[in-house]
Amino acid sequence: MVEQSIWMQKVAADPGHSHWYIERFRSLARAGEDLAGEARLIDAMAPRGARILDAGCGSGRLGGYLAAAGHHVVGVDVDPVLIEAAEHDHPGPRWLVGDLAELDLPARGITEPFDLVVSAGNVMTFLAPSTRVRVLTRLRAHLTGDGRAVIGFGAGRDYEFDQFLDDAAEAGFTADLLLSTWDLRPFTDDSDFLVAILRPA
Ligand SMILES: C[S@@+](CC[C@H](N)C(=O)[O-])C[C@H]1O[C@@H](n2cnc3c(N)ncnc32)[C@H](O)[C@@H]1O
Repeated sequence: MVEQSIWMQKVAADPGHSHWYIERFRSLARAGEDLAGEARLIDAMAPRGARILDAGCGSGRLGGYLAAAGHHVVGVDVDPVLIEAAEHDHPGPRWLVGDLAELDLPARGITEPFDLVVSAGNVMTFLAPSTRVRVLTRLRAHLTGDGRAVIGFGAGRDYEFDQFLDDAAEAGFTADLLLSTWDLRPFTDDSDFLVAILRPA
């Protein structure tokens, strides 16, 4: 067993938390908001018909877009209520309940590695801190040799960017490119958001 994710600790403290989150994204979608910016970057990086792992997929906004773009998407999230919403709102990808710290997709019959892993929406900051390196190690283990992981999260959420980059190195990643936005603005010392493009070292 691994330490419970911060997200599930929040759900335990407030059982309405997952439903609030689902409704937030459904209402943004109804209002016509752009919810696919991160997915467009991933699509631009991917070969056509790529294998993409949406790590901490939530209610499926990114995996749903990427599957509609023709990619083979597997989404994994620790929150079963969000996975149920993903299945309902975005049929097509394979949506799975699971903790990324214990990610072992071959054991679940998904044996081929992934061209890309995307982890957007501050997933890293909702991991139990004791599992961070382990999660990054599991993500790396699911990539092809020249695959890439794209991980984005904001500052001020108790996970310093330098610590994250150290953890990624410990997990066997090299940082190819650091950005401060999903529309490719460069990362600087003042950036309050990091989008890290990582590859196996
Ligand atoms: C703010 S949501 C972002 C969801 C989605 N990536 C998006 O951008 O729409 C953070 C997500 O991280 C997931 N998460 C947190 N810790 C996790 C873990 N250890 N394993 C799998 N998912 C986790 C939560 O369940 C939640 O869905």
